[in-house]
Amino acid sequence: MLGLAKRVGARILLTSTSEVYGDPLVHPQPESYWGNVNPIGVRSCYDEGKRVAETLMFDYHRQHGIEIRIARIFNTYGPRMNIDDGRVVSNFIAQAIRDEPLTVQHPGTQTRSFCYVSDMVDGLIRLMEGENTGPINIGNPGEFTMLELAETVKEVLRAIMLDENKLQEVMLGLAAHAFEFMTSQESSIMFEREGTEAELGDKLVHILK
Ligand SMILES: NC(=O)c1ccc[n+]([C@@H]2O[C@H](COP(=O)([O-])OP(=O)(O)OC[C@H]3O[C@@H](n4cnc5c(N)ncnc54)[C@H](O)[C@@H]3O)[C@@H](O)[C@H]2O)c1
Repeated sequence: MLGLAKRVGARILLTSTSEVYGDPLVHPQPESYWGNVNPIGVRSCYDEGKRVAETLMFDYHRQHGIEIRIARIFNTYGPRMNIDDGRVVSNFIAQAIRDEPLTVQHPGTQTRSFCYVSDMVDGLIRLMEGENTGPINIGNPGEFTMLELAETVKEVLRAIMLDENKLQEVMLGLAAHAFEFMTSQESSIMFEREGTEAELGDKLVHILK
């Protein structure tokens, strides 16, 4: 892809990942943090693959003057996710729809941030239209525990089950709008408002409809 970008003179985007930080020793992670990555773990092919992809992007940028953009994407969710993709949001929703218990890994107090997909796309478009090569973190600064997420999924599903009309519509589908976001904190693109549980629930309703 870098060779193609060089040949046709294209600006090229790498959708990298927060996983380049590995098991970080710094919280939150600024783009200047080099990470703490296990090179031989079961997940290492993903982390190290993205890291070498970032390296190659910068090598082509330096040697051949290719216009690169690198986004480090944090957890993203939204409608039309593959129900069996193994991510926690889709796992909980799939279990709730199947009327199975939601499996929360111990201790349940571990936190993640969840970025709505259309916000992510807006961030990527801004990055491509701007002059900053990155790497640039794109995500939601609001953190939720896994127990809070499971409770929110349960509440949303219960509300939908109580409404018989909506019950007919329970399937993965189209969805909604997004948080306003802004460019802030040096190079990071982060959201103007932190996502509250109610807002997360609102988004989950749209996914479940
Ligand atoms: N979803 C997240 O939370 C998240 C977090 C960090 C980084 N990312 C990165 O963002 C990118 C997209 O993630 P996603 O969750 O939308 O993944 P996804 O699996 O839903 O989508 C990947 C897409 O790439 C296509 N694809 C795969 N191999 C291809 C190939 N050889 N040629 C052309 N198309 C091919 C697939 O058909 C699919 O449409 C990935 O690079 C992923 O590593 C995603």
